[in-house]
Formats: sequence, structure tokens, C-alpha cells
Amino acid sequence: MSQKKIIAVFGATGAQGGGLARAILHDPNSEFAVRVITRDTTSDKARELAALGAELVSADVDDKESMVKALQGAYGAFFVTFFWSHFSPEKEGQHVKDMAAAAKEAGIKHAIWSTLEDTRKWVPLEDNSMPTLMGKYKVPHFDGKGESDHYFTDAGVPVTFMLASYYWDNLIYFGMGPKPGPMETWLSPSRWGIRKWQVYLQMISANVLMAFSRKDLK
Ligand SMILES: NC(=O)c1ccc[n+]([C@@H]2O[C@H](COP(=O)([O-])OP(=O)(O)OC[C@H]3O[C@@H](n4cnc5c(N)ncnc54)[C@H](OP(=O)(O)O)[C@@H]3O)[C@@H](O)[C@H]2O)c1
Repeated sequence: MSQKKIIAVFGATGAQGGGLARAILHDPNSEFAVRVITRDTTSDKARELAALGAELVSADVDDKESMVKALQGAYGAFFVTFFWSHFSPEKEGQHVKDMAAAAKEAGIKHAIWSTLEDTRKWVPLEDNSMPTLMGKYKVPHFDGKGESDHYFTDAGVPVTFMLASYYWDNLIYFGMGPKPGPMETWLSPSRWGIRKWQVYLQMISANVLMAFSRKDLK
């Protein structure tokens, strides 16, 4: 049996978790072993990670008890939520609450929670320069994460809050790549425009991002 410290990785068959899982699995000197948390241990993506040496364990973020079981014996855990599969900040908040409770119950020594800013700290709801969405959010997939950070601290789980920027990967996989427009502009299908030399959008590769977060687990 591996003497390495186990890191349980949610979303390991996806972008963020996948980057972290591969960063650890590709490092022969790593002090960590990877436990892939997936809803389907038989999927091609899960098997690919198993072939690299990962342990596969099934759990669903909709089922807290499955998360408690999946986290048993792990030293650390990487938590990410899946806003775009339900579009509900409230549901996302419930998932974070259950993740924090499961981490506490399983005795996780260090959690990394992939959160984002609650933008309402900078743009209050009464500021009409940005529309208010879903009744109480400025940027629902940011705000719901940011307002859920306290679940980890309230539960007393040692936690690192990791704030991911927009991934380069979106340009490849979601057809969001900028297209040349008139007058030296670059336009994307998602309707944001970058006027050359005037606006900078912070981006990072999901793989690189996770190689950084691996350092937080020590
Ligand atoms: N795109 C960006 O630029 C960006 C930037 C910052 C933050 N984010 C945030 O990143 C989050 C998504 O992370 P990602 O891009 O890494 O996701 P992703 O690539 O879409 O990953 C999908 C993963 O979600 C897992 N999954 C989905 N539903 C699940 C459930 N009910 N229980 C357990 N696992 C489930 C799937 O695992 P299985 O199918 O194997 O179970 C799969 O591995 C979103 O909340 C988004 O707001 C995105």
C-alpha cells in the first residue's frame, strides 16, 4: 500500500482537477498519491488517470455521505464545484457546505477550495452600472462561490482559497477564441471585445494553475 499522502481530487476528469491530478501523477518524487473522485469510475477519462497510478473512488457532490466516504483516509482534498452543469448559485452553495462538512467529518488536514470573488464587495447590488441577476447577484458564478467560503472556516477545516482566472483552455474547447474584427479589434463569440493594446484579460492554463495549487497542499 502506498505510504504517500493521499490527495482526493474532485473534478479530476475535468479541467482544474485534471490538471492537479496529472501534476502529481507525473511527478515520480511526489510525496502525494492521487485519489480521483468521479461519478463514473469506468469512464475513459477515469481509466486514463488510473493507468497513470491514480486510485478511483466514486462520489457525487449531490450526495454528502458519498463525499464523506470518498474522503476517508485522505490527507488533503481539492474541491471544485460545477456551476455550469446547473446554473444555480444556491445549489453551488449547498455543494460547498456539504464539501466542507464532509472534509471535517473525514478529518481532512488541508483543503483547497477553488472559489472566486464575491463581486458584490466591489459592485454593490444598488450599483446599476452592472445589472443585478437572479435577484441578488452581480456575477452569479462568482458571487455564489465567494459567499460560500465561510463554510470551510466555520467547519474548522484548514483551507486555502484558490481563485482561478479565465482559462486559456476556454479558447480551445468552448469556441471562445477571439476573432479579428474591424479597426484592429478582436471580438469573441461571447461578445466581449478586446481593443488591441487597451484591455488586458488575465488568463491561465488550467494545467499550470493546478501545478501551483499542488504547492499549497504541503
Ligand atoms: N472556465 C473558466 O475559465 C473558469 C475559471 C475560473 C473558475 N471556473 C469554475 O470552474 C468550475 C468548473 O471546473 P472545471 O472547469 O474544472 O470543470 P469541468 O472541466 O467541466 O469538469 C467537469 C468535472 O465535473 C465533475 N462533476 C460534474 N458534476 C459532478 C457531480 N455532481 N459530482 C461529482 N463530480 C461532478 C465531472 O466528473 P465525472 O463526470 O468524472 O463525475 C468532471 O470531472 C465552475 O464552477 C466554474 O465557475 C471556471
